[in-house]
Amino acid sequence: MDTVTLEVDGKKVTARKGEMIIQATDAAGIYVPRFCYHKQLSVAANCRMCLVEVEKAPKPLPACATPVAEGMVVRTRSPLAREAQKGVMEFLLINHPLDCPICDQGGECKLQDLAVGYGKDVSRYHEAKRIVKDKDIGPLIATEMTRCIHCTRCVRFGKELGGVMEFGGLGRGEHMEIRTFLDRSVDSELSGNVIDLCPVGALTSKPFRYTARPWELMSRPSVSPHDCVGANLDVHVRRGEAMRVVPRENEAVNECWLSDRDRFSYEALNTDARLTRPMIRRNGRWEETDWQTAMEFTAAGLRKAVSAHGAGQVGALAAPTATVEEFYLLGKLMRALGSSNVDHRLRQMDFSDDEAMPPFPYLGQEIANLERLGGVLLVGSNLRKEQPLLNLRLRKAVRKGAHVAVINPVDYEFNYPIAHSLVTDLMAMERALAGVARALAARKGVAVPGELSALI
Ligand code: SF4
Ligand code: FES
Repeated sequence: MDTVTLEVDGKKVTARKGEMIIQATDAAGIYVPRFCYHKQLSVAANCRMCLVEVEKAPKPLPACATPVAEGMVVRTRSPLAREAQKGVMEFLLINHPLDCPICDQGGECKLQDLAVGYGKDVSRYHEAKRIVKDKDIGPLIATEMTRCIHCTRCVRFGKELGGVMEFGGLGRGEHMEIRTFLDRSVDSELSGNVIDLCPVGALTSKPFRYTARPWELMSRPSVSPHDCVGANLDVHVRRGEAMRVVPRENEAVNECWLSDRDRFSYEALNTDARLTRPMIRRNGRWEETDWQTAMEFTAAGLRKAVSAHGAGQVGALAAPTATVEEFYLLGKLMRALGSSNVDHRLRQMDFSDDEAMPPFPYLGQEIANLERLGGVLLVGSNLRKEQPLLNLRLRKAVRKGAHVAVINPVDYEFNYPIAHSLVTDLMAMERALAGVARALAARKGVAVPGELSALI
């Protein structure tokens, strides 16, 4: 039997064997307070905020590190559990500064929220609080390490998912500090995710810092335009101005992560150099106009071109970073005009392999499936920089035992072991790929296609 049944707060809950209590309670909609636990990271069990009462256990147990068992009786809100949770909160607040009014995390801080439910009005601690010298770790992440509660989420993210251990813990007990090695800057391609992971105001967004409060922002769902991954994100807007971008959870695409380029490039939206109003070129000069005039001008121009040259002579070139919905609408518009000339390949000049190559490249499988692959061959790809979220999936696959091989023109840096690497010039890559095709054909017992055998 793969499932067990336990009782949580008087309610029957079914969980998979090996799951932790907190996973079972989350699935059942029963909230257990937590700081260090995160469903995508390994269990550290160092904050103790998730202590719950388990019948027959001599003392409260951490829900994030206690596996479920058949017949287990768990109480998350009993007097014993509440007392333990409140005790942990009191310990956390001994050193955490009560500077919420000037903290950028104020209003979206897990510690602030939980302190309302589990904290005391007045601290019993009168001694001086610990102070940690602040660090400058680069242009994207602001630090206020006196606020750190040592949950190690940022450390585990780098080690387990980001693939670059940029943060680490130094010292012990009262003297422990989370910091970068030799005070280096943090500059990996997924570094901004620690801002979301940090449950307090120790790590916050530097570009966003002190510009707005969370309750002033409206959230607008959107999709990242930077690569074909299409990471789901929320643009936080104040009075029509994009103030920041945060990930929108979608397990099938980006899980709960964003690449730094998706997260921070919103700053370009607000630059003066950006074209925000339509323009019409008259007599060789660009003139600003309103949308209605621009639409009518475009419609008249299209009508004129169609009647003068025929619909087949009219075509539309779309930016390759547009969304699928925008492509769909453009295609619909062009078909209504009688033309099917729509393309997004703005930098391609040779179309001789159109028959063999689909015009819309497709991964061939779901993004989430990448982390379940056993073997991967990357060709001409600096995946870590080009598509950091796909690289994250491959890194997960490698951690489960997958082999990744590369054929590249440059010896790019990867953040997981590469099983086989061939770095060669572009011309020789063709021959190398033909060699791979030959090996695959031999393994499958099929003949090598004619065009390829000439290369081998
Ligand atoms: S900096 Fe934030 S995420 Fe990192 S250990 Fe401290 S509290 Fe946790
Ligand atoms: S959430 Fe369980 S110990 Fe931190």
